[in-house]
Amino acid sequence: MVSTSLPGGTWTLGDLPVTRFGYGAMQLAGPWVMGPPADRGGALAVLRAAVELGITHIDTSEAYGPHVTNQLIREALHPYPDSLHIVTKVGANRDQQGGWPPARDPESLRRSVHENLETLGLDVLDLVNLRLGDAVGPQPGSVAEAFETLVGLQQQGLIRHLGLSNATPEQVAEAQAIAPIVCVQNMYNLAHRQDDELIEALAEQGIAYVPFFPLGGFSPLQSSVLSTVAARLEAAPMSVALAWLLRRSPNILLIPGTSSTTHLRENIAGAALPLSDDDLAELDKIGR
Ligand SMILES: NC(=O)c1ccc[n+]([C@@H]2O[C@H](COP(=O)([O-])OP(=O)(O)OC[C@H]3O[C@@H](n4cnc5c(N)ncnc54)[C@H](OP(=O)(O)O)[C@@H]3O)[C@@H](O)[C@H]2O)c1
Repeated sequence: MVSTSLPGGTWTLGDLPVTRFGYGAMQLAGPWVMGPPADRGGALAVLRAAVELGITHIDTSEAYGPHVTNQLIREALHPYPDSLHIVTKVGANRDQQGGWPPARDPESLRRSVHENLETLGLDVLDLVNLRLGDAVGPQPGSVAEAFETLVGLQQQGLIRHLGLSNATPEQVAEAQAIAPIVCVQNMYNLAHRQDDELIEALAEQGIAYVPFFPLGGFSPLQSSVLSTVAARLEAAPMSVALAWLLRRSPNILLIPGTSSTTHLRENIAGAALPLSDDDLAELDKIGR
C-alpha cells in the first residue's frame, strides 16, 4: 500500500495502489494543448513537486502537445519511482487547427501505444484509457474493434490495465463483456452530474471513476451556490469543488490540472476542506 497524507487516502487501480489525489498533466502543454509550454522550467517544476508532495497518479496523453506532456513527464521524472503510475490514453489525434479527430482504427491505436511507450520511456504502460466520443462528449456506437485491439496489446505485455474515457454506460458494459477495465474517465464535476448513476454502478464493482474537468476545464466552474458555500467556509470555490468530489464517492480519483506549483499546493490543501452534511446538501443542488 501507498501511505499518504494527501486528502482522500488511496485507491487500488487493478493491482496498482495510487493516491486518490492525482495530477492531470494536460495543462502543461502550450495554449489549447498545442505546442510547448511558455515556461518549460515551470512545467518541469510542477511535475517534480507533484511527486515530492506524494502524488502517485499522473494522467497524460500522447495527444497533449502532441508529444509535449509525455516528453516533459519523462524529462522531469524518469527513471520513475516504483510508486508512480502514469495513466495515458489513446483514440484521438491532433490536427493542424488543434482539433481532436478520432483515431480508433487498429493501426492508429497500435501506433499510439508504441508512441506513448517511447515518449514516456517505458516498456509497459500501467493503464491505457480508450478515448471515445468526440469533443462534444460521449457518442453511441460499438467499442468492440477498438477495445479488442487494446486487449491484444495487453496480451502482448505492453499494457497492464485498461480503461475507457468519454464513454457511455452502454459502451462501458460492452467493453466489460470483452475484458476487465479498472477505470472510467469522463467529464464530471459539481455542475455536470450526468454520470451519477454510472459512478454508483462502478463503485459497486470496485472500478475507479476519474472525472476530467473537475474544476470546469477551460471554463472555470461558476455557480452562485458554490460561491456562497465557499465564502461561508472562507475557502476558494475550487477547493470546495475538489473536496466535494472526494466526498461524492470513494471510487472517485482526482486529476485536477494546473501549470502552477502554487495552484497545485492550493488544490491539495483545498481538497482536504471539511464539508458538513448541510454544505453537501446545498452543493448537491447545483448540478441536479
Ligand atoms: N479523457 C479526456 O478526454 C480528457 C479531457 C480533458 C482533460 N483530461 C484530463 O483531465 C485533467 C484535468 O482536466 P483539466 O486540466 O483540463 O481541467 P481542470 O482540472 O478542471 O481545470 C484546470 C484549469 O484550472 C486552473 N486551476 C487549477 N487549479 C487552480 C487554482 N488553485 N486556482 C486557479 N486556477 C486553477 C488551471 O489553470 P493554471 O494552469 O493556471 O493553474 C487550468 O486552467 C487534464 O489535465 C487531463 O489529464 C482528460
